[in-house]
Amino acid sequence: MNIIRVKDYEEMSRQAAAHLYKRMTAGKRMTMGLATGATPERTYDLIIEKAEGDNQSFHHIHTFNLDEYAGLDSSDTNSYRYYMNQRFFNHIDLPKEQTHLPNGMAPDLEEECHRYEDELKQTGGLDVQLLGIGSNGHIGFNEPGTSFSSRTHVVALTKETREANARYFTSMNAVPKHAITMGIETIMEAKEIILLVSGEAKAEAYDRLLSGGVDEFFPASILKKHPNVLLIADEAASRTYAGRTFS
Ligand code: PGA
Repeated sequence: MNIIRVKDYEEMSRQAAAHLYKRMTAGKRMTMGLATGATPERTYDLIIEKAEGDNQSFHHIHTFNLDEYAGLDSSDTNSYRYYMNQRFFNHIDLPKEQTHLPNGMAPDLEEECHRYEDELKQTGGLDVQLLGIGSNGHIGFNEPGTSFSSRTHVVALTKETREANARYFTSMNAVPKHAITMGIETIMEAKEIILLVSGEAKAEAYDRLLSGGVDEFFPASILKKHPNVLLIADEAASRTYAGRTFS
């Protein structure tokens, strides 16, 4: 794991955006795995700014998001399709039909998981995957205890995850109880993974990731077995790693 420690969220986002933009403009057809949540918001802004400045198009890129809530359609402001359109896809020159998210409204969610995996396979698999981490170590919506050999699947969200995401909904009751997520094995097949960790709320997760073992009860720990992970962490997340205090 290649680890870069940076000052703050802004610097983490700058480094992530610069790294991704380089991949996105290498000219080759590529498939990118994308994430939602607070962590990558600024990274998306910065890629948009750079692409606008360069008049850059991304017709050679396909994107696959990690996850989507069950039961929310694309017009729901809390759906991840809505988030991605608003924050990224509407502002770059990338055909919408090349942007993929699981369909949380599919009548048969299990079948939708298979369809999503097939679609990803048809594009040749993930070249690069952008990832955040949950405070409980989840990646995508793969909660603690998820098998490392999981493929795209339907999950029951933990209370912890629903509480963490409740800030976006009108009430805790409105937070969906299920979601579709890429599996851990699906994520691990990405050729390269960029993991962003920011803020004090992630300090414990960062510590456990780096100092703990590889354990299904801390899903992100599997990333230590991946040959090409770039971890970018800010000071707030990484200050007290393994009991040591960094300046
Ligand atoms: P966050 O979520 O970026 O909103 O902190 C990350 C995650 O839960 O994977």
